[in-house]
Amino acid sequence: MASRSCLYAYFMLLLVVFQSTRPIKGNIFALPPPQCRRVLATSSDVLQFTLNLLYLEATLYLYGSTGRGIDAVAPGLVQGPAPVGAMMANVDRTSRQLMEEIGLENVGIIRAILDTKLVEPIQMPLVNLSLEALNDFVEQAFNDDFIPPFNTYASAVNFLPVSAVLVTSLIRQYYVGILPHLLNHDLQVVKFGAVRQQLYMFANAIIPPYQLNVTTLVDRLGQLGNRLGMCGDKDEGLIVALQLGAENRTTTNVVPADVNSLAFSRTEREILRICYGTGNATIPGGLFPRGVNGKIGDLIRNLRLS
Ligand SMILES: *[C@@H]1O[C@H](CO)[C@@H](O)[C@H](O)[C@H]1NC(C)=O
Ligand SMILES: *[C@@H]1O[C@H](CO)[C@@H](O)[C@H](O)[C@H]1NC(C)=O
Ligand SMILES: *[C@@H]1O[C@H](CO)[C@@H](O)[C@H](O)[C@H]1NC(C)=O
Ligand SMILES: *[C@@H]1O[C@H](CO)[C@@H](O)[C@H](O)[C@H]1NC(C)=O
Repeated sequence: MASRSCLYAYFMLLLVVFQSTRPIKGNIFALPPPQCRRVLATSSDVLQFTLNLLYLEATLYLYGSTGRGIDAVAPGLVQGPAPVGAMMANVDRTSRQLMEEIGLENVGIIRAILDTKLVEPIQMPLVNLSLEALNDFVEQAFNDDFIPPFNTYASAVNFLPVSAVLVTSLIRQYYVGILPHLLNHDLQVVKFGAVRQQLYMFANAIIPPYQLNVTTLVDRLGQLGNRLGMCGDKDEGLIVALQLGAENRTTTNVVPADVNSLAFSRTEREILRICYGTGNATIPGGLFPRGVNGKIGDLIRNLRLS
C-alpha cells in the first residue's frame, strides 16, 4: 500500500510542478450551464481546495476505524478546530482495515501536498461528522424521518454507504475534473474502487432495524447528491439497469461511470452544494458547518457562486 500512496503523491507533485500557474482547462465539449461551470483557478488553488476534502475523508475513516483522527497519526501536520462528533464505528475486521488504510493514505497525500510548499497551507475547516449531521443526510435522501435516527457508526453496512457516497465518491469525482491530462484513470479509482467493492459485498444486507438494504441506501444517497449538486445524474446505485452497465454487459456497478466507462466529474460548487447539504455553495452546513477554507472557497463566497 505504501507504493500506491507514493504513486498518488508522485502524480500530485507532477501536477504542481508542471501546472502550478496554468488555469484549469474547461470542458472541451459543449459549455455547461452556468451553475455547473468550474471556478477559474490555478492548480495550486485546486489542490488547496482538495485539502479540505482530504482532511474530511481522513478524519472520517481514521475515526471510524481507530477512534482517533489525523493528529494521532501525524501530530502537528494539520491545524484547525477539532472535528465534531466523529467516532469509532462498530465494523468487521476487513472493513476496519480498509477504512484505516484509506485514512492513512490520505494523511500521506496531505503531507505530500503540503511538502511541495507550492500550495498555501490551510487549516482544517470545522467538520461535523456527528450522528445527527449524518442522520440529516440520510433523512433528506429518503425525505422521511428515521425512527430511531440512522446511526452511521453502528456497523459497516451503515458506515460504508454514507462514507462512500457522501465523501469518497465526491473526492474521486473532483479528481476526475482536475486531473484529466495527468492522472491515470486507474490511479484515481483505486481508493474509491476498494470501498465500492466492499460495499458490493454487502449489497443485499439489510440495515437493522429498518426494512432497508444497502443497495437502496446507496441509491437514495446518490440521488440526493444528484439533486443537491444540480448538474445531472452522476452518482449511480450499486446495481444499475443493464443498459447503464459497463459495455452494456453487467448489472453490477462497482465503479460508477457512463456507458463508455468514463468517470463522471464534479466541480467545486457541486461538491459544496452536496457536502453542505443545502444545495447552495454559499450556504455552509452539513459536513462543513462553517464552510471550507482556501482561495476557491473564498471566491465562491465572495462572488456568490451558489
Ligand atoms: C452538527 O450537526 C447537527 C445536526 O445538523 C447540529 O445540530 C449541530 O449543531 C452541528 N454541530 C456544529 C458544531 O455545527
Ligand atoms: C433492496 O430493496 C429494494 C426495495 O425493497 C428491492 O426492490 C431490491 O430488490 C433490494 N435489493 C437487493 C439487492 O436486495
Ligand atoms: C450500449 O447500448 C446502447 C443502446 O442499447 C448503444 O447505443 C451503445 O452503443 C451500447 N454500448 C456499447 C459499448 O456496446
Ligand atoms: C444561495 O444562497 C444565497 C444566500 O442566501 C441566495 O442569495 C441565492 O439566491 C441562493 N442561490 C440559489 C441558487 O438558491
